[in-house]
Amino acid sequence: MKNTIINDIITNRGSDRKMEKVIAVSTNKGGVLKTSITTNLAGVLAREGKKVLIIDTDNQGNAAITFGKNPDNYEVTLYDVLLDGIHPNKAIQNLYENIDILPSNDDMGFFEFDVVSQLNKYNDPLNLLKIAIDLIKENYDVIIIDCPPNLGLVLGNVLKVSNEVVIPFQPEVYSMRSLQKILKQISDFKVQHNPSLKVSGVIGTLVDGRSSLHSQILQECRRFCFEKDITMFETIIPKSVRFANAVAYEKLPAILVENRTNNLINAYYDLYEEVFNRWPEKTEA
Ligand SMILES: Nc1ncnc2c1ncn2[C@@H]1O[C@H](COP(=O)(O)OP(=O)(O)OP(=O)(O)O)[C@@H](O)[C@H]1O
Ligand SMILES: [Mg+2]
Repeated sequence: MKNTIINDIITNRGSDRKMEKVIAVSTNKGGVLKTSITTNLAGVLAREGKKVLIIDTDNQGNAAITFGKNPDNYEVTLYDVLLDGIHPNKAIQNLYENIDILPSNDDMGFFEFDVVSQLNKYNDPLNLLKIAIDLIKENYDVIIIDCPPNLGLVLGNVLKVSNEVVIPFQPEVYSMRSLQKILKQISDFKVQHNPSLKVSGVIGTLVDGRSSLHSQILQECRRFCFEKDITMFETIIPKSVRFANAVAYEKLPAILVENRTNNLINAYYDLYEEVFNRWPEKTEA
């Protein structure tokens, strides 16, 4: 019975394939490629001619760092937009051609405390990001939100405004447990706060093709997702030091450095196809 409810709540299989504008990359685990997926998907979208906004909701500021920018140099950030009602255009910076960022830095680490300690001022604390995004949404084809590795008020704001969530899954021993937790959290949140929220899919990350443990846990995850009618993407992102190198040496996400002869780059294009193969057909003018 409980499973059926979760199925009904978070399934997207068989639903209409249409473009969704606000996509979050989120899970409660650290270091599982949330930022890498955000920035590389943004890179593919930009290569496909789309105008993209990355919203970095993580106080580590790693999305900007991926493009060689120092988040400490941004004077106006997402924190000011959310807490002081500054127009997002005052914080948005261009990162690369048609990729912009609404950046975060250490200030964002105070977001939850500052909101919760002044609830008389912020009487709709889950809606702060939505109010900001509504002001600029029309300027972009897609908005991708990079999330911190925890489940707090930041994630609540993200889930309130997102159409879909991509969930990275590193196949390690305790990963299934935390995947189940985040799926439950999303389904509960959907019921209470955002009925149109969907899980776009679960994506295996940092996969070592030679590890039998990895393939065993991935299989278990596929079976679990199948039973719950949740998409698990066919694409997996393999473990590779070349990805880390692209960020370190080229100051860009790998997708904007390497070409498509590289298997790892193809993995991001494949993920793009799986997440965004629902662009609406172009209609005649
Ligand atoms: N395919 C890959 N193989 C191995 N390492 C990678 C790969 N892609 C990215 N990395 C490196 O893995 C580390 C973690 O990646 P990333 O920062 O994207 O994870 P995250 O989930 O955003 O982490 P956090 O929870 O701290 O925000 C980074 O140092 C990144 O450069
Ligand atoms: Mg990150």
